[in-house]
Amino acid sequence: MSSGIAANCPAWSIPGYLEVRNRHLAINGADAIELVKEFNSPLFVFSEKRIRDNINRLQAAARAVDRPIKFCYASKANSNMAILKAVLDSGIDCEVNSGGELFKALEVGFKPDQIIFNGTSKSDDELDEAVRAQIYAINVDSIYEIDLIEQSVERLRAQGEDVPPARVTLRLVPEIGTRSHLGLQTALLTSKFGISSSEVLSAFRRGLQNPSLINVCGIHIHVGSQTPDVEPFAEAFKSMWEHLVTINRETGHTLQHINLGGGIPVNYLRDRSQADQLPEHERDMLGADLEPSAVLTEAMRVARESARAANAEHLLDQVTILLEPGRSVIADAGLVLTTVNNIKTRPETGDIWLLTDAGYNIMLSMNNYKWYYHLISASRADEPYGRDYKVAGPLCDSGDVYFDIEREGRLPDYRRLPADVKPGEVLALLNCGAYSLAQMFHYNGRPLPAAVLIDLEGNPKLIRRRDTYADLITNDVW
Ligand SMILES: Cc1ncc(COP(=O)(O)O)c(C=O)c1O
Repeated sequence: MSSGIAANCPAWSIPGYLEVRNRHLAINGADAIELVKEFNSPLFVFSEKRIRDNINRLQAAARAVDRPIKFCYASKANSNMAILKAVLDSGIDCEVNSGGELFKALEVGFKPDQIIFNGTSKSDDELDEAVRAQIYAINVDSIYEIDLIEQSVERLRAQGEDVPPARVTLRLVPEIGTRSHLGLQTALLTSKFGISSSEVLSAFRRGLQNPSLINVCGIHIHVGSQTPDVEPFAEAFKSMWEHLVTINRETGHTLQHINLGGGIPVNYLRDRSQADQLPEHERDMLGADLEPSAVLTEAMRVARESARAANAEHLLDQVTILLEPGRSVIADAGLVLTTVNNIKTRPETGDIWLLTDAGYNIMLSMNNYKWYYHLISASRADEPYGRDYKVAGPLCDSGDVYFDIEREGRLPDYRRLPADVKPGEVLALLNCGAYSLAQMFHYNGRPLPAAVLIDLEGNPKLIRRRDTYADLITNDVW
């Protein structure tokens, strides 16, 4: 019997994961159209196997530089509990950005020493929760926050809680640019993040003043998300390394870890058939294919060179390296299945409009960042592109479209799909696993979609139930 897998693989396919079977899109063997029949539309579909493969790829990079690396999954990318569980089961650690994410990480089973906590504006309650939990590190975003953490330790001790000094990492913002969207760059002085280079030494001196309250154990730079080149990572690593040496020489204190942040890019343009509609810099950024091993190898090379020159190789050999990957773990492990509800033609322009049930309330980055997600027909995944369509979502907002309404060319004007798409056809937006589910909202009174995870055995498992109308009003008081 034939497996039904199409012989000619489309460019977007990933063998063993995203394939064409019996003309339909299949995710780890699960038929997309059957999934919509069972779980309704729109629907998020995640692959546990792809999450594992992505994490294995990161772990292989650690082996390439022959160093143990502490990978802390950036849970802001997707903190659905089943996704966090899949990450936990794969053996890596977790980065959180709020008391809520800390709660979820602990609840799912990450141990405190597996958790690091970032954030520009942590509340006293959030700091108390992190200090009480005794997590691996709180990443401090300003000199003022050092005071707040010390106060938190004192407050908890005054209440009779026996907490050790809080482990603290200082986050720097060294003016390193990348070729990602400005809104995703986080190491520029114009960004809201971190402590600037001119303040680094005084910040560390301040942090070392009260060792009974805080233990300054690391240094951190996150250059931004979807960083397409190795250079910003290498520059950031070298900068942190040189600060580590200076701090050691000036204060005698040795930092235990260097945290290089997240930002390893995902190739959103495996299928380049629509890329001709994008400007070159968008193509380079969205289509980046950077191996994590290349990032780590180059970072270690520049640090080793600098260590040799400074006669400080022993310090480099002792240091633990942290990475905070989000997108590179989960983006291409998730997709959205969406149904065409309505269709219209504009005789004046000749355009055919497809109106789907997936709006920017479930894919905010498509509107905020004009982020490109490749669109295919899940119902006719084997058919060649036959026509250009204008595609839009269901929200009562002109901006709820799959093209760049501001005409800045950041998204293709038209999406190419098979000819004769009709209402009822199921489409798939690929690579939607990161920064989507966590940013959904109920605009226009739209119940939020369900999500399923195809488990390691190939079985779909509901990991988020679809909202009911009652969910729309649960928190309203009237
Ligand atoms: C501090 C920090 N670490 C890690 C990440 C994850 O980045 P990415 O999803 O690009 O790997 C982010 C997101 O921008 C971040 O702000």
